[in-house]
Amino acid sequence: MNFRSIIREIIDSLLRPILLTSFRLMPIKYLAYVAGLRYANGNTLGSRSLYRVITSILGMNFVSAPEILNQRLLKMDPKRRRNASKLVWQQDTTSAWSDSHFSNPEMRAKQFVYHEIKSLYEVLRRPLSILELGCVTGGSLHILRHLDVQVSRYLGIDISKSAIEVAKSRFSKDSTASFAVGDFTQVLGEIGEMYDVLLVNLTFLFLDEEYLRQLVSKLSDVVNIIVISEKELPNQSGKASQVGDWGNSPIDYSHDYERIFADYGFTVQKGGLVPFYNPMGLQSSKKLETSMIFEARLVNSKPLTI
Ligand SMILES: C[S@@+](CC[C@H](N)C(=O)[O-])C[C@H]1O[C@@H](n2cnc3c(N)ncnc32)[C@H](O)[C@@H]1O
Repeated sequence: MNFRSIIREIIDSLLRPILLTSFRLMPIKYLAYVAGLRYANGNTLGSRSLYRVITSILGMNFVSAPEILNQRLLKMDPKRRRNASKLVWQQDTTSAWSDSHFSNPEMRAKQFVYHEIKSLYEVLRRPLSILELGCVTGGSLHILRHLDVQVSRYLGIDISKSAIEVAKSRFSKDSTASFAVGDFTQVLGEIGEMYDVLLVNLTFLFLDEEYLRQLVSKLSDVVNIIVISEKELPNQSGKASQVGDWGNSPIDYSHDYERIFADYGFTVQKGGLVPFYNPMGLQSSKKLETSMIFEARLVNSKPLTI
């Protein structure tokens, strides 16, 4: 151990109690910002330098922020947690979720939702209208273009204003693309347009069941086909939703997606529950590796005329 690392350890151990206490007391909004910085390392939002400064000052204590955020959210009742989770997503440090769509499109294009939409496009042989929930900075649209899927109309919805601003500037010259900032259930209630396909990738696992049901109940008037990929705990079918606790994000739930969709008129046409794999090379805990993923194409039992 060299002199620098000894000094670093001394500073870390002096800072530890102060930081842990402040992470336990600070408003969720600020804690979420700090916790999100670990994703922000390498993104385009100017948080990169802040990330470097913060990690060099806070040292390894900094990694406790997401864990403490997780513990604080878990202690809340579901409604308070739902509102707090929106605050988490509204911090601009969480938009880095979508960065790999742009930095590594080849890898992202391997994900189920994209090759499934590509095969639908090849079968239907016409441009598709696509609605996406949890579009972040527009990464999915980028991948669909990368795969030469023709899109007649695209609407991406996300509660993160900063992510939607990035998406809008990325696709400012694309007249078929639009993006809306807002809560899913609120925007879905206002769009008044129908879409061929709803794309959802790793987004519903962050929603509690009551909210998810409110959302899914609105879908049968808006989309014909749902293409979805979401994590689920093993042996979960027929069971009520529970906190997934995969340990790499603040709050995540495991839902019996097949049952919830069936309750609102959508049936699985292709796919279903499969063992989780990690095409994105994300850092994952053991729990995550032993989980399952619901990858499916669902169809509306009352098809809409588009
Ligand atoms: C994990 S990210 C989505 C990942 C992305 N689909 C991908 O493939 O990389 C979840 C997104 O959903 C958004 N979100 C979460 N809850 C929301 C809500 N209630 N209303 C609107 N957007 C929400 C967050 O802002 C976040 O950008």
